[in-house]
Amino acid sequence: MRWSWSYLVLGALLGTACGVLLALLLEAKLGSLKPPELQLHLKSKSSLMPLISLAPDALNVPMERLSEQHLTPSVAVVKYPYSYPFLINHPDKCQGETAPFLLILVMTQPQDTEAREAIRTTWGEETIVPGVTIHRLFVLGLFPLHLHRHLQCQLEKENDENQDLLQVGFLDTYSNLTLKTLMGLEWVARYCQTAQYVLKVDGDVFLNPGFLVHQVLHPEGPPRPAFITGYIYKNRMPMRKPRHKWYMPREAFPGTIYPPYCAGAGYVMSGCLALKVLTVAQKIKAIYLEDVFVGLCLQSLKVKPTPSPVGIFQVFGREYKRCDFNQLAIVHPIKPVDLLWIWADFQKANTTCPPS
Ligand SMILES: *[C@@H]1O[C@H](CO)[C@@H](O)[C@H](O)[C@H]1NC(C)=O
Ligand SMILES: *[C@@H]1O[C@H](CO)[C@@H](O)[C@H](O)[C@H]1NC(C)=O
Repeated sequence: MRWSWSYLVLGALLGTACGVLLALLLEAKLGSLKPPELQLHLKSKSSLMPLISLAPDALNVPMERLSEQHLTPSVAVVKYPYSYPFLINHPDKCQGETAPFLLILVMTQPQDTEAREAIRTTWGEETIVPGVTIHRLFVLGLFPLHLHRHLQCQLEKENDENQDLLQVGFLDTYSNLTLKTLMGLEWVARYCQTAQYVLKVDGDVFLNPGFLVHQVLHPEGPPRPAFITGYIYKNRMPMRKPRHKWYMPREAFPGTIYPPYCAGAGYVMSGCLALKVLTVAQKIKAIYLEDVFVGLCLQSLKVKPTPSPVGIFQVFGREYKRCDFNQLAIVHPIKPVDLLWIWADFQKANTTCPPS
């Protein structure tokens, strides 16, 4: 990640080098004390061309504030409902002859090219489970301002080649993850209501699609209108320390205990429930912890997450062992480089491990 970041930043710097250099020279002449980074932001902001039509406030956040934003109460609540546009879209994805049994929505950030590459060639391959129709899309938002113009072109190229990106017009930050999930569900409602199950998964996981489909979802079984499963958190208390990664100000969630919810790394629900969640989400204050928020929606729907066999959703990391992984649905976190070798080895599981 570190490497690809510096590469991207370098690319962006080169891309705007001329204009910025001039600006820096000028500023230096004037004896400005602003740090170079800040000047860059200001420069790219003023020179940003509207390549695409965006939600009016989509580009209005100064970068330097983003890192602190999740610490303030106002940012714990995200702006929803709101008509964020789909900037890169595949409206026909689900219009094929067979309705998808499983729609996989993978949450990545625009700059996570490496993770998407790894996923496409491993568990994200749509034909991976014989006889089962799987569709997969990567959901992402907008690049931070100063990287926008240069990298947006690359992103569009990536989409031309793979036809699998879904880009929505909001700034792609950790605090906006809830928007990403909700816009994924809006996409289901608009373009893919026929999906029997929807898996929301982060880009840094190992997924065992065969196991998930046959041992958890059961294509031969009856439909389950109120089904959602994953790693279920129960009786969790909101973090009230402002510096905590999952800080939840009382203004955003006054209760003392969160309702049961599935860990955000990966949870799967019936298409029917996805639509109901989206409906109640219009009326509940949308907080930035997306998995907790889905839990609040479930509570309002009076739906409880369905427990799965113990331990098949590993959200706190797990050492790779071929025959262990063969009995798991999801392991989180896994880096893209590790996913590649793990997947190569994992192919031997069906012939060398005991059957499920
Ligand atoms: C979320 O996205 C909106 C729309 O782009 C933006 O105005 C807002 O600042 C973002 N929030 C955070 C915390 O990044
Ligand atoms: C094992 O899985 C791999 C990859 O999915 C597949 O190519 C191979 O045919 C499978 N082998 C058997 C015996 O099912």
